[in-house]
Amino acid sequence: MRSATVAARPGTILARMPVPLFDTRTPIAPLRAELDAAIASVVDSQRFILGPEVSAFESEFAAYCGAAHAVGVGNGTDALTIALRAMGVGPGDEVVVPSFTFYASPEAIPPTGATPVFCDVDPDTMCVTAETVKAALTPKTKAVVAVHLFGNVAPVAEIEALGVPVLEDAAQSAGSRTPAGRPGTLATAATFSFFPSKNLGAFGDGGAITTNDDDIAERARMLRFHGSFDKKTFEHVGYNSRLDELQAAILRVQLPHLDAWADGRRAAAQAYEDAGLGDLVTLPRVVGEGDEPAWHLYVVRSSRVDEVQAALSEAGHGNKVYYRVPSHQQPAMAPYAPPAPLPGTDEAARTHIAIPMSPVLTAEQAAEVTETIRTAVPQGVRS
Ligand SMILES: Cc1ncc(COP(=O)(O)O)c(C=O)c1O
Repeated sequence: MRSATVAARPGTILARMPVPLFDTRTPIAPLRAELDAAIASVVDSQRFILGPEVSAFESEFAAYCGAAHAVGVGNGTDALTIALRAMGVGPGDEVVVPSFTFYASPEAIPPTGATPVFCDVDPDTMCVTAETVKAALTPKTKAVVAVHLFGNVAPVAEIEALGVPVLEDAAQSAGSRTPAGRPGTLATAATFSFFPSKNLGAFGDGGAITTNDDDIAERARMLRFHGSFDKKTFEHVGYNSRLDELQAAILRVQLPHLDAWADGRRAAAQAYEDAGLGDLVTLPRVVGEGDEPAWHLYVVRSSRVDEVQAALSEAGHGNKVYYRVPSHQQPAMAPYAPPAPLPGTDEAARTHIAIPMSPVLTAEQAAEVTETIRTAVPQGVRS
């Protein structure tokens, strides 16, 4: 670890200490004994698949979201495919999805038999809008995947007002709040990922589907287990995609802390604002009045993003350009190339960069990162 000093605002000297892009270790350190006990308890029980821990986690996670049902599955990608199929999506249908997202959001659509139709995002929020979705609708549209990117919650109600069912891709937004409720309850169904670095992370892969619709929940439960309820009759060609008992037990220990961790993420975002980061680069705009995103990643934009990145890397601060080549330009998506350009997507792809964010990021660390960015763009070069 390197250490140096850097002059910040006149009269201020900050100790330069590298700040990691995210920190998954510190928040769970105080839970270590509880986690060890939960793991030991599953090992002792010898119940590893679809047992009491998964059932209990499903009840607790549904209650946390405010949804009637949660169905634990193997990961957030399977959650999308299974949820879409449970919503009735199949061959011949179209599903509208943003291009500026993790590749899994569109990737999950072709396995249902449906066609992904890429729509644009608002680069200021990096989420879809009712207008960008509307431009992609056709008579074949069966559903829209609204991605709550980086923890910012897409305007689900405005999209549903277009008359099309919405699936929330809430993989990055566990812990976010809106006046209308939490992600997981805002649309027909929602999907989550418990990938280890997510806001609520397992110690391996994991995912869930939430919904208030009894039929969708029932179909999702069947689809995750080979299309069968009773292991004797197989009604659908389904999947082997279950959240396992160890991961469920680990998630149950962490879930009661998710809100405090989300508060920590919001406090970190506020610390960046207080440090003056908004004078230097474009900060993410919160989608809805009164929304409280649990920033999974803190992604800012600058037309001089390469210089910002070089300065951060030089100082040893974590940073990452996640989606420089957006999904619709990935080789496997060539058959689904949109007929018109996606200017908001191109803008976001060209100018974005994730800077350090975690539930335990301190005001000092936020100031440190901000001052490093100031060295790259002293006058502020927003996108
Ligand atoms: C927006 C989004 N959707 C879907 C996924 C897929 O989740 P998983 O990695 O658990 O399959 C992820 C995360 O990896 C994601 O960030």
